[in-house]
Amino acid sequence: MHAVIINGSPRVSKHSNTERIIDSFAEGLALSGASYERYAISDKDNWDSAREAYIKNTEIIIALPLYVECVPGILLEFLETLPVKDETTRISFILQGGFAEAKQLECGKAFLDKLPGYLGVSYGGTLIKGDNFGIRVLKESEVQKIITPYRNMGKAFVDEDGFKPETVKKFAGPEIFSLPIRLMLQLMFMTLARKNYRDIAKGWGCKVPIDYRPWSA
Ligand SMILES: Cc1cc2nc3c(=O)[nH]c(=O)nc-3n(C[C@H](O)[C@H](O)[C@H](O)COP(=O)(O)O)c2cc1C
Repeated sequence: MHAVIINGSPRVSKHSNTERIIDSFAEGLALSGASYERYAISDKDNWDSAREAYIKNTEIIIALPLYVECVPGILLEFLETLPVKDETTRISFILQGGFAEAKQLECGKAFLDKLPGYLGVSYGGTLIKGDNFGIRVLKESEVQKIITPYRNMGKAFVDEDGFKPETVKKFAGPEIFSLPIRLMLQLMFMTLARKNYRDIAKGWGCKVPIDYRPWSA
């Protein structure tokens, strides 16, 4: 298998969580004997080469973050530049987001389930997983804990010939957290997480409180 992997995030590659996820996923592909080439559409100078690769190849994987419950606008814009192909081309997706519950990725997935049909190609499934906010801000050892499982998914993609529903469901984790976990998380967000976000904002040069609302004064 030779796969074309396209990062559909608007974030520049060096800050993109999707890019780190692709690093790990691609390692898994290689472990199962596949080769790959990678593109990122955040830089519009790459669009021509990414489109050429889409046209010339038959195994396409688009990895993308969920932005406001749906597909990033820049990716929709790029997709509109692609020509219609036939079913010998297969397209698959890795949809990832910040919030942990799998349920909130389902709206984006429902759109991606239909997209290959619009493009005239066949569909290899969509891998979904949340809880990825931390990739950009955590220390490397913690980041590795988040991205390493994607390596197994890269292997599985080759070994199982696409993203199979059972594998996707297992990888996605709980659809909705139980009430005790939700209450615990709420407490955490009001205390420890709040402090962490404050420290991160400060590190990025923020000089106002993180709940600063100038419009509500
Ligand atoms: C503008 C914006 C909107 C977002 N909307 C969602 C969302 O609706 N659901 C979610 O789970 N994560 C959301 N996120 C979090 C991203 O999906 C998450 O941080 C992802 O890992 C970012 O990947 P990237 O760095 O490659 O863009 C949002 C992030 C941004 C910046």
